[in-house]
Amino acid sequence: MTKKLFIKTYGCQMNVYDSERMAGALAPHGYAATDRIEDADLVVLNTCHIREKAAEKVYSELGRVRLLRDQRRASGDDLTIAVAGCVAQAEGEAMLERAPFIDVVVGPQAYHRLPEMLARRGRTARGVVDTDFPLESKFDELPAALTPVGPSAFLTVQEGCDKFCTFCVVPYTRGAEASRPAAAILAEARQLLAQGVCEITLLGQNVNAYRGEGPDGRSWSLGRLIRALAELDGLARIRYTTSHPRDMEDELITAHRDVPQLMPFLHLPVQSGSDALLQAMNRKHGADDYLRLVDRLRAAKPDLALSSDFIVGFPGETDEDFQATLRLVEQVHYAQAFSFKYSPRPGTPASLMKKQVREAIKAERLAALQELLEAQRRSFDQQSIGTVMEVLIERDGRDVGHKAARSPWLQIVHLAGENLRVGDLCRVEITGANPRSLSARLLPSPTVQRGRAA
Ligand code: SAH
Ligand code: SF4
Ligand code: F3S
Repeated sequence: MTKKLFIKTYGCQMNVYDSERMAGALAPHGYAATDRIEDADLVVLNTCHIREKAAEKVYSELGRVRLLRDQRRASGDDLTIAVAGCVAQAEGEAMLERAPFIDVVVGPQAYHRLPEMLARRGRTARGVVDTDFPLESKFDELPAALTPVGPSAFLTVQEGCDKFCTFCVVPYTRGAEASRPAAAILAEARQLLAQGVCEITLLGQNVNAYRGEGPDGRSWSLGRLIRALAELDGLARIRYTTSHPRDMEDELITAHRDVPQLMPFLHLPVQSGSDALLQAMNRKHGADDYLRLVDRLRAAKPDLALSSDFIVGFPGETDEDFQATLRLVEQVHYAQAFSFKYSPRPGTPASLMKKQVREAIKAERLAALQELLEAQRRSFDQQSIGTVMEVLIERDGRDVGHKAARSPWLQIVHLAGENLRVGDLCRVEITGANPRSLSARLLPSPTVQRGRAA
């Protein structure tokens, strides 16, 4: 008999990738994925611990899942509840104290043990917890993910972080930096291509710190890996995220110059424009280092667009520090960006710093920063009007015959095209900019179907 699995994913793209791998690991044990929680026999919440709000969301969702289980039990059925991801890793046993109805708590490095944990739960009175960092790599143990749903897929190449920014939980929840061997990554990429994927986003918490064993026995950098991936037949687009400015090596910058499949878009978080704050954050770079790096990247790839993460209201942030952030944004001109109010996280050095910034000031600064970033995003979209570009069809649009596609710079592009299929690459001219997307007209040049010439 088939059991139904519902996974709810919070947080970053690595959690999205991990959720697919968990579904792949549970499939041989009789679990089929469903997107209706009401039908589920097993609910997995794949959680995020990055800010307080993200972590607290999990407990409100758990409350709802528990009610669902009560209903199930009242009708003679049952429901198993598992918590995975970074909250599971950070809180471990403490989750069972706060929510004793949880069946399984599993940290990100132990997902290959999930089927065995579920079996063990059947024999124990209490929930089962595994937040080990096992010696064996989950990547070697986990079966492949289920067939990807679209033309674009994630592929984790590196996990963990050794940077220890003073505000951040990731080094504690994901552990030390570890890179997968290049051969395993190339094999997974080939499998994705065989399943119809033509765009791959390489993932890592600090992806450009990638140092994996190459098939030649040497240590490969991310730039080297990208060059090898670019040789695979049918891989039309390569992206990677998230990078640290300190790990942006020459070999990666020249890959942007030389590899046409590497998309001209880079998420390169800077967090702040103030040197004093960057130091207090332990970012290991100053504002000028970042600006010079951006110059070098743009010299190598003139149409490169940038995105970033920002934190406002980090402990000790003065008005002057914040003005420095606005100045940096003015200098870089971002195509898009994420910005957050600083959220003190348990166990991180910054949470213990004096001079925490008042909530009202955080809110004020966030609004000012977001206004500037939003204006830059709109101006970037405006500049696209009239240009010709190749877009990747991702899904059907709202109107009949319309499609939603993705530009090389990650913009959503709407166009009419009866005969286009999901996965096609086609040339368009951008005709307009809407609040959250672009409009385009299909050009009569040959469409490349599913990553291969038609
Ligand atoms: N390098 C990581 C960063 C993860 S966190 C990656 O792979 O994505 C994403 C962003 O969340 C960070 O860049 C930072 O801007 C923000 N962030 C992290 N800790 C935070 C905190 N305590 N409060 C507010 N924002 C935070
Ligand atoms: Fe967190 Fe800093 Fe590592 Fe990014 S580089 S994951 S912000 S510690
Ligand atoms: Fe969140 Fe963990 Fe990703 S804390 S951002 S899910 S690495």
